[in-house]
Amino acid sequence: MSSSSEPKTIDTLLREHRHFAPPQDFVAQANTSDPTIYEQADANPETWWASWAEKLEWMKPWEQISDWSNAPYAKWFLGGKLNASVQCLDGHVAAGHGARVAYYWEGEPGDARTITYQEMLDGVCRTANALKELNIQKGDRVTLYMPMVPELAMAVLACTRIGAIFSVVFAGFSSTSLKDRIQDQEARLVICADGCWRRGKLLDLKTVVNEAIEACPSVEKVMIWQRGKGITSSAPATDRDVDWDEVVDRQSSQCAPAEQDAEDPLFILYTSGTTGKPKGILHTTGGYMTGVYATTNLVFDLKTETDVYWCTADIGWITGHSYIVFGPMANGVTQVMYEGAPNHPGPDRFWEICAKYGVTIFYTAPTAIRAFMKWGDEHPATHDLSSLRLLGTVGEPINPEAWVWYLHHIGGGRCPIVDTWWQTETGGIMITPLPGITTTVPGSATTPFPGISAKLLDEDGNEVEGANGGYLVLDRPWPHMLRGIWGDNERFEETYWSRFPGKYFPGDGAKRDEKGFLWVLGRVDDVMNVSGHRLSTMEIESALVDHEAVAEAAVIGVNHELKGQAPVGFVILRSGFEASDALADDLRKHVGTLIGGLARPEAVHFTPELPKTRSGKIMRRLLRDVAEGKTIGDTTTLADPGVLDGLRSEYEQREG
Ligand code: WT7
Repeated sequence: MSSSSEPKTIDTLLREHRHFAPPQDFVAQANTSDPTIYEQADANPETWWASWAEKLEWMKPWEQISDWSNAPYAKWFLGGKLNASVQCLDGHVAAGHGARVAYYWEGEPGDARTITYQEMLDGVCRTANALKELNIQKGDRVTLYMPMVPELAMAVLACTRIGAIFSVVFAGFSSTSLKDRIQDQEARLVICADGCWRRGKLLDLKTVVNEAIEACPSVEKVMIWQRGKGITSSAPATDRDVDWDEVVDRQSSQCAPAEQDAEDPLFILYTSGTTGKPKGILHTTGGYMTGVYATTNLVFDLKTETDVYWCTADIGWITGHSYIVFGPMANGVTQVMYEGAPNHPGPDRFWEICAKYGVTIFYTAPTAIRAFMKWGDEHPATHDLSSLRLLGTVGEPINPEAWVWYLHHIGGGRCPIVDTWWQTETGGIMITPLPGITTTVPGSATTPFPGISAKLLDEDGNEVEGANGGYLVLDRPWPHMLRGIWGDNERFEETYWSRFPGKYFPGDGAKRDEKGFLWVLGRVDDVMNVSGHRLSTMEIESALVDHEAVAEAAVIGVNHELKGQAPVGFVILRSGFEASDALADDLRKHVGTLIGGLARPEAVHFTPELPKTRSGKIMRRLLRDVAEGKTIGDTTTLADPGVLDGLRSEYEQREG
């Protein structure tokens, strides 16, 4: 199917169809194909969001839709009471959909499980009762360090069931990163797996947890779910360990949901900022649930009776929170969840899974699409992908080539593509096409979701009109916006609300085209986007300086064919240390050990000096020019322009 519709080169296709109108048959069945919803929502955003909140199950109705009087601290659905797990589970079971599959789970080695909504509800209640037995109370923090298994979703929902605040740490993070997060939130409980499968190997997670909790006195217990049934981890048991099966299985499958206030915290999720310390982004219950429910429903055009939805993200990131757990489950759709690597055992694993389960909606990242392109067109072509009807992307700007490849090789030329721009902080999708309405253009996330207001500003905060570029801001509160940074209001106000007072500044630059569509271009701060994940240059610099050989370090994100951006380090050695390939390797590994594999620099270069301004600020822009082999930009503020010549010749030597 997809193969026969692709006789042309991507270049021709890019030239031919600059715009892609939604196919007529898609429009005919779309949840919305009415373009006036944008005007309706804009005319009264509060009413618009309340119309979505009304579709949720409330234990007590709200008294006021929103309150922005204490900006930038928003409140939504004031006085309302609800429980997120009820929306995700009990409601569907009560409506007679208990037998509907919640997750088709596929383990990397090929083991598979099918879990219905009824089974999820029972499992969540048992787990919630186990949490109670472990003396976890409303408002306590629980850190989750688990791979992509249904028990992670279960643990998340079990926390919400009793009003505990959960915080998922991506299982690829190091013990130091895990420790920092546990300490910041003073978690009382850690829930982890002993390990998981990745590229044919069992990864040992329990050893990482053991290392992390050594310095975490707040942690009373560690509950371990056995992926490998005792074979995965050689880590010794600690006196804090409890076995998931042992404590969960014997619990009752009934657990009355806690009555949560709309503004009670739901979760904390850490993301990198411009300083070394990650920010604990705080989301609350009523507004978040409303936002992810509405966006999942409209952006993915969900049909809960028939769709099989697969978001390939990890629950350790915001995409997994909003579009694997809460959004899809609140809507009650059937999902696919996969544990492992996209190219194990072969580069067609994803397409094999799509065909096996008849996936209809597929949501992934541009970095993955570029990898699929590189692995070869034959891999999707050998599988029947005719069940797919809608495709999505998220995480970074998508290059038009990848967009068109995705349309033809995965979407058979017929599936609309939604390029969704949003962030950990925004909680849900903010700028996106609606698949039954928007005529898309490859590379543009198009327009704000109904009810969302985005503007472009110049350096001085003046609004930029027409087809121009500027700083992207969101100038109207929305229900699923972050409520703060855990324990650090000052940083919250400073990071997001001080650059353009009164407006939310996400840190991205964007341009607007003649049609009025937005093209998000990328970060304008010292944050890079590696394979759709956010990394702070400062955090990697601190990790390099942590090594005994390093006196000073600068890190930049350079363009990378697959990852979008990749970190590259420039270091000044302490006296007594010699530059060598072995040391460069050692430094790369050191960063991986301290932060996680994702942060490991692509390359580390040695230099006697770094380009700095007269006030001592490292000019990373110039390092980027060097690393990308560009003509070096404006150096008028550089204290010693000679530094760059040295750097460039050293760089060229090493790159050979
Ligand atoms: C940053 C947010 C949202 C979940 C995954 C990443 C970049 C994200 C797009 C897109 C252009 C995008 C932005 C944003 N980004 N989606 N469709 N087009 N850029 O979440 O780690 O919070 O990172 O990712 O730079 O600020 P995150």
